[in-house]
Amino acid sequence: MTRAWNFSAGPAALPLEVLQQAREELTDWHGIGAGIMEVSHRGKAFTGVIETAEADLRELLAIPENYKALFLQGGQTLQFAQVPMNLSAGGSADYLVTGAWSQKAYEEAARIGGARLVATTENNGKFLRLPDFANLPFDREAAYFHLCTNETIHGVEVHEDSETKLFEAISAVAPGVPLVADMSSHILSRPLDVRRYGLISAGAQKNIGPSGLTLVIIREDLLGRAAAGVPTLLDYRNQADHGSMRNTPSTFAIYIAGLVFKWLKARGGLAAIAALGREKARRLYAAIDGSGGFYKNPVDPACRSTMNVPFTLPDAGLEALFVKESEAAGFIGLKGHKSVGGIRASLYNAVPMEAVEALLRFMEDFRAARG
Ligand SMILES: Cc1ncc(COP(=O)(O)O)c(C=O)c1O
Repeated sequence: MTRAWNFSAGPAALPLEVLQQAREELTDWHGIGAGIMEVSHRGKAFTGVIETAEADLRELLAIPENYKALFLQGGQTLQFAQVPMNLSAGGSADYLVTGAWSQKAYEEAARIGGARLVATTENNGKFLRLPDFANLPFDREAAYFHLCTNETIHGVEVHEDSETKLFEAISAVAPGVPLVADMSSHILSRPLDVRRYGLISAGAQKNIGPSGLTLVIIREDLLGRAAAGVPTLLDYRNQADHGSMRNTPSTFAIYIAGLVFKWLKARGGLAAIAALGREKARRLYAAIDGSGGFYKNPVDPACRSTMNVPFTLPDAGLEALFVKESEAAGFIGLKGHKSVGGIRASLYNAVPMEAVEALLRFMEDFRAARG
């Protein structure tokens, strides 16, 4: 069997053990004579799968009782619309822009209702830092405050210390305003204090499972606020009341997510996975910074992402060669996002340390040959 060193940004590497178990169970899940994706979502088999997945997720993230965990569809992009449809009901919501994804969220919300740009860190087309949260002009009347806590394309992450600063700042100035976060590309990479947020959402295809599944964690008092005319399927209250089964859910993706949650628990939960994740990122950034300027990551070190590490080489020709040679050497997914170019290595939970070590060796050899 050949598995590449997979650094894809999403859809991304899944744990090998999870894929192997899914392969084992593909045609006959637990002796029922059919695969789990071939049976009714209302039957005993799948109901057990979704309930166990939810219970494991709740345990991993310590989700409090007064929050619903919903397994939806439409990707994080639909959340950019669904959030304002459900939460802003004629009022205005605050948006912080720190990269391409929060920019998209802001633009979508502006189409739907009142969206106010609180701040953008964009500078000459680049996003390299976080703002000083303490000095943001929060609106005390805002329906919510939206941010993306890990910008997948620009490699900017709100780490725990910054998250605390944001939480303290908004609690002091606009205490009733719920925080709403797109955590697509770093959810489950570290422990999280869910109580700080009104709503957390994530497309599954990075740290959770296959694309097609979207996770929404929502505080119960925010249910039932959908604007008039919002389609039934897009009303969080409706989905919560039907256990994420207002229509047929993405059963196979939920099943795989459930296996990923078990895999995370078996590895010691989020504190253990976070320690490993920090070490993977530390070693890659150290290699970039120690390359004598051959490799460069321009992001403020205080908010460099542990999950998505974009970097450049001296010119576009060398970057193209790097991608080509890396593919020949058994790597996939290292080409940077088309909007920013360069290289990007995504270090999600399922990317093992051995993959990072292989990448570091490749980078060193490449620099020695071409630097
Ligand atoms: C942070 C972030 N938000 C939103 C999206 C869009 O997600 P989807 O393709 O699931 O709509 C992505 C996709 O990569 C992402 O990384």
